[in-house]
Amino acid sequence: MIYENKQRICPVENAGSLDNVIRKWLQNPGKILRPYIQPGMSVMDFGCGPGFFTMKMAQMVKEGGTVFAVDLQEGMLQKLKEKIQSTELEDRIKLHQCKESGIGVSESLDFVLAFYVVHEVPDQETFFYELKSIVKPGGTVLIAEPPFHVSKKAFQKCIQKARKAGFNAEKGPSVILSKTALLSTGQ
Ligand SMILES: C[S@@+](CC[C@H](N)C(=O)[O-])C[C@H]1O[C@@H](n2cnc3c(N)ncnc32)[C@H](O)[C@@H]1O
Repeated sequence: MIYENKQRICPVENAGSLDNVIRKWLQNPGKILRPYIQPGMSVMDFGCGPGFFTMKMAQMVKEGGTVFAVDLQEGMLQKLKEKIQSTELEDRIKLHQCKESGIGVSESLDFVLAFYVVHEVPDQETFFYELKSIVKPGGTVLIAEPPFHVSKKAFQKCIQKARKAGFNAEKGPSVILSKTALLSTGQ
């Protein structure tokens, strides 16, 4: 499905700006994700786009782990599919096209990354409730939002919705060009 009229959704034509060497230098996926991902984990890259973070996540979970790469747009998932085809990462990455109304994954997850996507989700409250139901006890969610698109107030409101859904929320790591928060479920 093509989301032509939905201005707030990052278009597939912008995929190149999401995966390039300059971004890798500014927002190094390995450095950002190192504290949260261990070999063997089940993790999700929600709103994965062309897979800038997904590829590194798949390397980090290693052979026994799984990465659910979830996006609304088939075109984004197609770009990721082309990158992993015939590589050792292909078996570890499960591509899933979700709907605006829900994630639609029923696995239990150790970690979820939601990078530059929550402001594009139309019903954040429902999103956080669904997320809470699939993150394991003791699991973690890292949210990063772009500072220019998302005001301080809007980010605080978003975190309030996460708390309402039952997450504990604290300040996230320092990531350039991002407002971040870490959500946890408690044991
Ligand atoms: C700005 S891009 C960020 C991509 C990736 N997380 C990154 O940082 O490189 C936002 C992505 O979220 C996806 N997206 C938007 N709304 C979504 C939703 N409700 N559910 C899943 N994905 C969504 C878009 O299709 C797009 O690929």
